[in-house]
Amino acid sequence: MARIIAIANQKGGVGKTTTSVNLAASLAVMENRVLLVDCDPQANTTSSLGFDQQKLKSNLYTALCGRSNFEDALLPTAIPYLSLLPSTTDLVGMEIELVDKMLREYYLADLLGPAAGNYDYVILDCPPSLGLITINTLCASHEVLIPLQCEFFALEGIFKLMKTYEQVRKRLNKELKILGVLLTMYDARNKLARQVRAEAERCFPGKILETVVPRNVRLSEAPSHGKTIINYDIRSKGAEAYLDLAREVVKRKACA
Ligand SMILES: Nc1ncnc2c1ncn2[C@@H]1O[C@H](COP(=O)(O)OP(=O)(O)OP(=O)(O)O)[C@@H](O)[C@H]1O
Ligand SMILES: [Mg+2]
Repeated sequence: MARIIAIANQKGGVGKTTTSVNLAASLAVMENRVLLVDCDPQANTTSSLGFDQQKLKSNLYTALCGRSNFEDALLPTAIPYLSLLPSTTDLVGMEIELVDKMLREYYLADLLGPAAGNYDYVILDCPPSLGLITINTLCASHEVLIPLQCEFFALEGIFKLMKTYEQVRKRLNKELKILGVLLTMYDARNKLARQVRAEAERCFPGKILETVVPRNVRLSEAPSHGKTIINYDIRSKGAEAYLDLAREVVKRKACA
């Protein structure tokens, strides 16, 4: 049975997509069967892997609406053990279409449930909001991994996310646990980054992951070549960090 992990933070641009794509790729090169699911209507994960969303007839949206099969929407990637369930901007309609549906929080869980046995890890890239799509990812997951960019206001966002997490745990998905908080784009020379890190460690003891992702230009270049950091530059600091993260995720037990 797969470990299903949502990569979530409602704050924009904190490294959710970069983490989803490169953690998934790193787990896959370690010969884990990985499904990466693009749950963001921006479809950045889909384009990061070099797919043109205009050409995708079957995708997460069509699968969620029952207009295509789950299997028909899956795409193989350049990494043998890594498959992608892509998205297009159409997914934005899902937030509205679900509103008046019964059990609207569980559409993604119902879609992924039957397939989970075919994978070791399912990684869900979330949009920068706490709307119904993100709630669906939290209801479909066993664990949540929270990327945190160490800058001003970073912790305020995370407190709000933790509140949502507690509500989901209480009412909708009792299995959900926190895998950890991942510091991203970290620059140890920056005093504010060091302060936010210390504050995060104080507020969330035991939840900050050992692996820290440094700011690394190769990580920001890779998507424009349609590649993960593993295919683009495996010797970069960015690749090293995501391979370390994959090893830590394999070893780490999530905490409630
Ligand atoms: N460690 C890093 N070093 C350098 N650049 C990075 C790093 N991580 C992410 N970036 C860059 O920062 C920007 C935002 O990252 P990313 O798209 O992963 O964030 P996101 O949280 O998914 O954003 P959104 O909320 O819009 O979905 C991107 O241009 C990405 O290439
Ligand atoms: Mg993103």
